[in-house]
Amino acid sequence: MANAPDYKALTVLEPIARELARIPTLGSDELEALYIELLGRKQGSLTAVLKTLPSLSPEEKAQLGSGANALKRDLETAFDERRQALKSETQARAREGVDLTMPGRGRWIGAEHPVTRVTEEIVQIFHRLGFARATGPEVETEWYNFGALNFPPDHPAMDLHDTLYLGEGTLLRTHTSPVQIRTLQRYAPPIRILAPGTVFRRDPFDASHAPAFAQIEGLAVDEGISFVDLKATLTHFARRFFGPTTKVRFRPSFFPFTEPSAEMDVECQLCHGSGCPACKGTGWMEILGCGMVHPTVFEHTGVDPERYTGWAFGMGPHRIAMLRYGIPDIRLLYDGDMRFLAQFVAGGSANG
Ligand code: DAH
Repeated sequence: MANAPDYKALTVLEPIARELARIPTLGSDELEALYIELLGRKQGSLTAVLKTLPSLSPEEKAQLGSGANALKRDLETAFDERRQALKSETQARAREGVDLTMPGRGRWIGAEHPVTRVTEEIVQIFHRLGFARATGPEVETEWYNFGALNFPPDHPAMDLHDTLYLGEGTLLRTHTSPVQIRTLQRYAPPIRILAPGTVFRRDPFDASHAPAFAQIEGLAVDEGISFVDLKATLTHFARRFFGPTTKVRFRPSFFPFTEPSAEMDVECQLCHGSGCPACKGTGWMEILGCGMVHPTVFEHTGVDPERYTGWAFGMGPHRIAMLRYGIPDIRLLYDGDMRFLAQFVAGGSANG
């Protein structure tokens, strides 16, 4: 392509000449298609120009003829060079042992982590009952995490051995219950919220504990709400989540921020009530703590306890995922081991 780029000045040749730049970038199919388009004996656009030459005046013929022939030479050279380059690339790959006929790798589609999936399902079930999603900060003050929730100042949960303090009066929240306080401060009843989030405790990392884990908080506050609403709603939830015939039971319990307080058990998902090692022979598994909002919590947040009542609950999606999928060790949910996680991809395989 040394001399004679004068063809670029000729209107009929200019669009053909522009294709020269693309040639070194083309793959072999596109290259041969372009060859036919430009230089094909029957429909090539440059061929067509060359065919008009005999009918032109001697002057025109001289000008267009030399340009068109120069362009043809340059195109042929560019096509030859590209064909040669593609050929040596293929040979190089063959030498490296790359087998171009080998089927491609399955594409990784990805899936929700089992804890995320459980959390989203629970949030959805309550969403249909009119509960909105709420969030709160993971770094909390002692007051939001404990004081406002009616923990006495000497409660063992506040001990350095149980709680991760960041400084004077500041800590990583040990539960999602402070979202109750933030919601009550900010919105007037009627309130129905679900607050999923991560919580932190100074716990060992063993088969059943982790220092950071998920919780979901629920809160319903309105006029005339009673323990019947709590039982009916949580029973409905358990049947939706675990299956329509799931048995549940409520046992009396204690939390500083609820009165009365209870724990809800569902029938063991592994033995369905007959007793097995997973449920320590009881046939039941505890899934959440709950109760009627303590009047002191209302007083701390400026809600009139004479007018409003409410109920609340807190549960752990890690535990619920373990129950539902029969996972024996909580650490499996933190490892990120694809051999484990691939089992939860719809269809059962990680590779699509
Ligand atoms: N915050 C409690 C915990 O982490 C769980 C809990 C119990 C939350 C009872 C509640 C409730 O809202 O009413 O152990």
